[in-house]
Amino acid sequence: MTILVTGADGYVGWPALLRLAKTFPDERIVGVDNFARRRWVEEIGSVSAIPILSPRERKRKVEELGKISFVEGDLTSKEFVNVLVRVYEPDMVIHLAAQPSAPYSQISWEKAVYTQYNNNISTLNLLWALKENGLLSTHFIAATTTGVYGAPEYPIPEGFYEVEYKGGRDVVPHPHMAGSFYHMSKCNDVNNMYLAHKQWGLNVSDVRVAIVTGATTEEARGELATRFDFDFYFGVVTHRFCAQALIGYPITVYGRGQQGKPFVTLEDCVQSFVELAKMDGDGYTVYNQTLGAVKIIELAEMIREAAAEEIGLEVEIKHVPNPRVEKEEHEMFIENDNFRKLVGKPTDLKDAIADIFRELESRKAIIEAYKDRFLPKALLNQR
Ligand SMILES: NC(=O)c1ccc[n+]([C@@H]2O[C@H](COP(=O)([O-])OP(=O)(O)OC[C@H]3O[C@@H](n4cnc5c(N)ncnc54)[C@H](O)[C@@H]3O)[C@@H](O)[C@H]2O)c1
Repeated sequence: MTILVTGADGYVGWPALLRLAKTFPDERIVGVDNFARRRWVEEIGSVSAIPILSPRERKRKVEELGKISFVEGDLTSKEFVNVLVRVYEPDMVIHLAAQPSAPYSQISWEKAVYTQYNNNISTLNLLWALKENGLLSTHFIAATTTGVYGAPEYPIPEGFYEVEYKGGRDVVPHPHMAGSFYHMSKCNDVNNMYLAHKQWGLNVSDVRVAIVTGATTEEARGELATRFDFDFYFGVVTHRFCAQALIGYPITVYGRGQQGKPFVTLEDCVQSFVELAKMDGDGYTVYNQTLGAVKIIELAEMIREAAAEEIGLEVEIKHVPNPRVEKEEHEMFIENDNFRKLVGKPTDLKDAIADIFRELESRKAIIEAYKDRFLPKALLNQR
C-alpha cells in the first residue's frame, strides 16, 4: 500500500506523517510539501514558538524511520501532481495541504485570490490526476473545516441533512455559509470532491477539522517537534491565548467571547487521519472532527486556570473589539457520531492545554520577542 500525505511539513501533516510511519512500518509513505507555511509566517513577521528542523533535516529524519519519502513540490502544478500520482500510484491520499488561515486570506485581494487558487487548484489537480491515471479506487481523505457550515441556529449535522420543501423531501449536503475567503476555499473543495464522488465514484472521507489544539504528540516532540504559531494570522485562538498567558500578557478575547467554537486536540486530529488510512472509504462520508463546541470566554477561563495551575501565573482576561465579522453570540451544537467512532477514546482539551504550558515554558523569550504579533496593528494600542 502507498499513502500520499500532502502538507506533510505542516502543523498537522508532520505529526500525521510520523504516526503513519509508526502505524504502517512496511508501507510506502510519501510526504509532499512546498514549505509555503514557513514563508507565510516569515512574511507576516512571526516565528514558530517551538523550533522545527529544516526541510533537509526533516527529510533525513523521516527517511531513517522507514519507507518514507519527503518530496518538495507545489500541488498547484498540474505537471508535478501528475508525475507524483503516476510514479507512486497511491492507495490513499491524505490531503492536508492548504493555506489555512482565515485572517491571512482576508488581508487583500491578492491574498484571497492566492488562497483560493492555491487550495482549490491543488485539490482539483489531485482529483484529476487520480482520474487520468486510472486510480479512482484510491481513498481520498481530505482536511476541510467545520467553518464551511457557518453559524446556523440549529444543530449542525455531519455533512448531510434531510430537507422538506413544498411537499418534497431529500437528503442534501448542508449549505455552505463560510465566513472568510479561506473557509470559502474549503466549500469549493467540498463541492469539487462531492462532484468527483458522484461522477467518477471516488470514495471520499471529508474531514471537517475543528480548531486544532496541542503542542505535541507521542512522536512529534523534541527534535521531531511540530510547529506552534501564536500570531494573529497563523496562531489558532487556543495557541494565542496560551502564549499570551505564558508571558503574563492579558488574554485578549474578541468582543464578549460569546461565540461557541468547535475544538479538537492535535492527538485526536492526527489519530483520526491514521484510522481513516486503515479504511477503504465508503462513498462520500463526512466526519465532524470535534468533540463539541466551547464558548471563547469559557476557553479563556480554562486557559487562565491552566496558567495558574501549571506555571503559577495569574493572568487577566481583556475584551477587545472583534476584528472579525461574525455573530456576537452563538450557541454551537455539532453532531459528530462518525468522528466519535473513529477516535475510540478521545483525549481532553484541558490536558492538551496543560501540555502546551509545559512545552512552552522554556520558550517564553521567543514569545516575548514577538508579542506585537498577537493582535492586528489596529488593536495593539487598545489592549
Ligand atoms: N490547524 C487547524 O486548526 C485547522 C482547522 C481547520 C482545518 N484545518 C485544515 O487542516 C489542514 C492542515 O492544517 P495545518 O494547521 O497543518 O496547516 P499548515 O499550514 O501547518 O499545513 C499545511 C501545509 O501545506 C503546505 N502547502 C500549502 N499549499 C501547498 C501547495 N500548493 N503545494 C504543496 N504544499 C502546500 C504548507 O507548506 C503547509 O506545510 C489544512 O487543510 C487546513 O485548512 C486546520
